[in-house]
Amino acid sequence: MLKFLVLILLSTALSLVVSENYFYGLNYGINQNACPSYETIKAEFTQIKKYTNRVRTFSLSVCNEGALALQAANELGMNIYLGMWIDRPDTFDAEMAALKAILANSQQESLNKVDALIVGSEVLYRKDTDANSLANYIGTVRNLVKPKGISVTTADVYYEFPPVVVENLDFLMMNAFPYWEGVTAGQGASTLMAHYDSVVQKANGKPVRISETGWPSSGGNFGASVASPANQKLYLSNVLCVTRQRNIDLVYFSARDEPYKAGVEAYWGVMYSNFTLKSNLPTTLLANPC
Ligand SMILES: *[C@@H]1O[C@H](CO)[C@@H](O)[C@H](O)[C@H]1NC(C)=O
Repeated sequence: MLKFLVLILLSTALSLVVSENYFYGLNYGINQNACPSYETIKAEFTQIKKYTNRVRTFSLSVCNEGALALQAANELGMNIYLGMWIDRPDTFDAEMAALKAILANSQQESLNKVDALIVGSEVLYRKDTDANSLANYIGTVRNLVKPKGISVTTADVYYEFPPVVVENLDFLMMNAFPYWEGVTAGQGASTLMAHYDSVVQKANGKPVRISETGWPSSGGNFGASVASPANQKLYLSNVLCVTRQRNIDLVYFSARDEPYKAGVEAYWGVMYSNFTLKSNLPTTLLANPC
């Protein structure tokens, strides 16, 4: 009995070392012009796992990312939101082919770690398709994955949730970037929460999660929004604080800086591009943001 207790205590201590859920989840981008290998993805997820046990990806077929990321997440015991990239009909076809391959090649135990298929990222925001077509895409994916018990959603900016789309979702995932609204970093969290509450109004009682928000540590100004390490710290801590208090699931943008992106887009990471935590965002802050 005592041995058993010691074992439990030991394994609890070990799991604390391995993973801290400072975040509900982190967004994981890749450089599509330099496809990461399985080993690279697994090594990067291992770094991410220090701060959350959940990642979100953006495409299935490009770089075969869906299958590789799911395998790496499974290997590490992490949860994953599998994103499908949709901009043109042929993109959807490629993503569907990749999805079918994943379903055919995966054990149910592995699929149980998929929080949802995210059918499109900011599709309506970019006007890549209309609401009815997006709803049809979501329905097609739903028919395929429902027998496996996987949820279906889409991620879009907070003002792009028309009823025909909402009725096809298990829950809503909204993006909002107060930085791009030209508010100060100090006003950022309340701006985000106002948008969140507006989506809840349109959700027909379905859960609403935040799929992306963040603040850059470098790269200039947008109106009163100033990119800096101090402002990233201020925004992140305010947002972590309020979402924990309100029990809102937040997939923060982003896991790490992405130097292959242009200008300010490169600097939204919680980690530097080498996957070490930024010095303005110490774990003491992540643990106690309020
Ligand atoms: C990672 O990058 C940061 C910022 O450039 C740097 O300060 C740090 O020393 C690097 N860490 C490692 C382990 O290379």
